[in-house]
Amino acid sequence: MVRVVSLAALTVLVALSLFSGEIKQLFASRRAATTVAIPDVPFVPTPPHVVDAMLRLAKVTADDMVFDLGCGDGRVVFAAVREFGARGVGIDTNPALIEACRTSAAAQKLEDQVEFRLEDILASDLAEATVITLYLSQEMNNKLTPRFETLPPGVRIASHDFELEGIQPERVEQASAIGHRTAPHRIYLYVTPLTPLSTP
Ligand SMILES: C[S@@+](CC[C@H](N)C(=O)[O-])C[C@H]1O[C@@H](n2cnc3c(N)ncnc32)[C@H](O)[C@@H]1O
Repeated sequence: MVRVVSLAALTVLVALSLFSGEIKQLFASRRAATTVAIPDVPFVPTPPHVVDAMLRLAKVTADDMVFDLGCGDGRVVFAAVREFGARGVGIDTNPALIEACRTSAAAQKLEDQVEFRLEDILASDLAEATVITLYLSQEMNNKLTPRFETLPPGVRIASHDFELEGIQPERVEQASAIGHRTAPHRIYLYVTPLTPLSTP
């Protein structure tokens, strides 16, 4: 009995060593097949009253082209178009979210006013933006700030909860829904050219 078991174990060991390359390749290809782009920030939607407050703070009008960097389900872009008459571009690395945004744009017959791009915001062309909205992270805002410094004058940047570190905000507002018990949301407004914070 012991001999049968050790013979079986030996057979498994020999098979493993013979086919170890193929086994490794199988696991590697499985890993590759299931790998998806991991976003720098997960999708957490901005509540509607905060979306409205951001767009108001940025004084969005029908003349504006609003870029939401990391657009999620497109709510900021859709609000800018529907409520303020602007045009909008949403950018996200999540293909399912971008697909849902495009489907929603078609259902609302807003394809002429909006565009959704499956792109990394760190490499996106922002030249057309007159308003930029953000709900990202401190790290992502820090990475984006040098790009904002190259934008033409007059671009308004409204950031939900995260500042542009070292830059003087034009205004800071808190948005809390009536009856809402959670901590208020903070919105930072910047206008290009960005002004460094003055040191005392
Ligand atoms: C916190 S959610 C904000 C969604 C939306 N802007 C809002 O305010 O409701 C951040 C979004 O940024 C996207 N994102 C994170 N890193 C990104 C990157 N490097 N390029 C493009 N999108 C990114 C995520 O997929 C996610 O949808």
